[in-house]
Amino acid sequence: MANLWGGRFTEATDASAYRFNQSISFDRRMYKEDIEGSIAHARMLGKQGIVSEEESREMIRGLEEIKEDIDSGKLVISEEAEDIHSFIESVLTQRIGEAGKKLHTGRSRNDQVALDMKLYTRGRVSETDGLLDKLQRVLLSVMEQNTETFMPGFTHLQKAQPVTLAHHMGAYFEMFIRDRHRLADIYQRMNTCPLGSGALAGTTYELDRDMTAETLGFTGGPTRNSMDSVSDRDYLIEYLSALSVIMMHLSRFSEEIIIWNSNEYRFVEIDDRYSTGSSIMPQKKNPDIAELVRGKTGRVYGALMSLLVTMKGIPLAYDKDMQEDKEVAFDAMDTVNDCLREFTGMLSTISFNKDIMEDSAKKGFTNATDAADYLVKKGVPFRDAHSVVGRLVLKCVGSGISMDMLSMDDYKAESPVFEEDIYEAISMKNCVEKRLTKGAPGRERMNEAIRFYRVYLEDMAGQE
Ligand code: ARG
Repeated sequence: MANLWGGRFTEATDASAYRFNQSISFDRRMYKEDIEGSIAHARMLGKQGIVSEEESREMIRGLEEIKEDIDSGKLVISEEAEDIHSFIESVLTQRIGEAGKKLHTGRSRNDQVALDMKLYTRGRVSETDGLLDKLQRVLLSVMEQNTETFMPGFTHLQKAQPVTLAHHMGAYFEMFIRDRHRLADIYQRMNTCPLGSGALAGTTYELDRDMTAETLGFTGGPTRNSMDSVSDRDYLIEYLSALSVIMMHLSRFSEEIIIWNSNEYRFVEIDDRYSTGSSIMPQKKNPDIAELVRGKTGRVYGALMSLLVTMKGIPLAYDKDMQEDKEVAFDAMDTVNDCLREFTGMLSTISFNKDIMEDSAKKGFTNATDAADYLVKKGVPFRDAHSVVGRLVLKCVGSGISMDMLSMDDYKAESPVFEEDIYEAISMKNCVEKRLTKGAPGRERMNEAIRFYRVYLEDMAGQE
């Protein structure tokens, strides 16, 4: 397949240099965006009288047919072309003749690729947001069903104070709210159209850049500086950064699920559909999906670093280094969206061993602070109360029991202030129920949070 730029050359590119230079093997996935951009350009060329109305119509029809044929598999994208832009333009010219040769009037592959990449990325940003929405819906339903599922809250991975499963899931819901906010912010900032910037310095044709921006749904209008337009990949770096944060969240969540699924914890059981076995150990049921999500976080961070480093030394305007944005970015987008899909599937089918969770909260003395608070409320200074309860905990550890199993005599032996109502005061239900500060796990507060999340999801759905 001929290059778009053969005229000035007397020799063909060296075969391996050609392979090194090509991008069709990976930019082929942007064929829809490339055609969408070309149709908008062709329509505008016709309206401006830069090509005739008839030529414009022929181009548009030809481009639409190419898209249909690629979609249906009738037209195979040939890897002999240098890139997707050359491929589509040359097929168009083969099919419609002279008019096809006019498509590139007032355009360069530099503004073309800037446009394609933005259109493509914009679509993926929306896809990520949709997947986060699905994950949040699963989280919300887990929360709704578990406002009274008591479990230990941890600090230093040591049991600390009792919380509920709803509260723990709510922490992740919050992280994903911030993630979606970041995506919306990026989407909004990237919503300007680079088409019509030419190679770097605009063109001498009377292009209507407002028209193409509008046709392509860029509500921010055309970009303001043509040199910046062809060399801006900030939006991609921002997206990769948002994706990295999403992966950091998913990875922490995965880590917890792996711990909770372990034989030692048994807080959860991952469904058979989302676990795998061992080739040698028949008893094993492994949390591979969660481990892979945790593992894939590294390659997404890698993509962000890679693009930051690629971009840092590039003089204005377009340089071929920028072709390196695609493989890493595509890989990161695919990876994160796959991780979100699989993680959501795993979470929606997981079972929570509620009794084991509650038992673990009791055995871990997560109500020790409440026992101390009980004494404080009866007039004992906090520091003394802390030490009384510390001795009681020591006694429990010695006999392998939880605080609710101590006798009244045991309590009295450490402090005469203890009465029968201590058992009530340290019950898991009470310990959690009394935590009513804003953001705390007490049922009232949790119900408020759940109501907020419902409205949030409705609002987000309404914005689409
Ligand atoms: N494949 C190139 C890229 O991805 C397209 C732009 C080529 N422009 C050029 N002047 N060689 O960046």
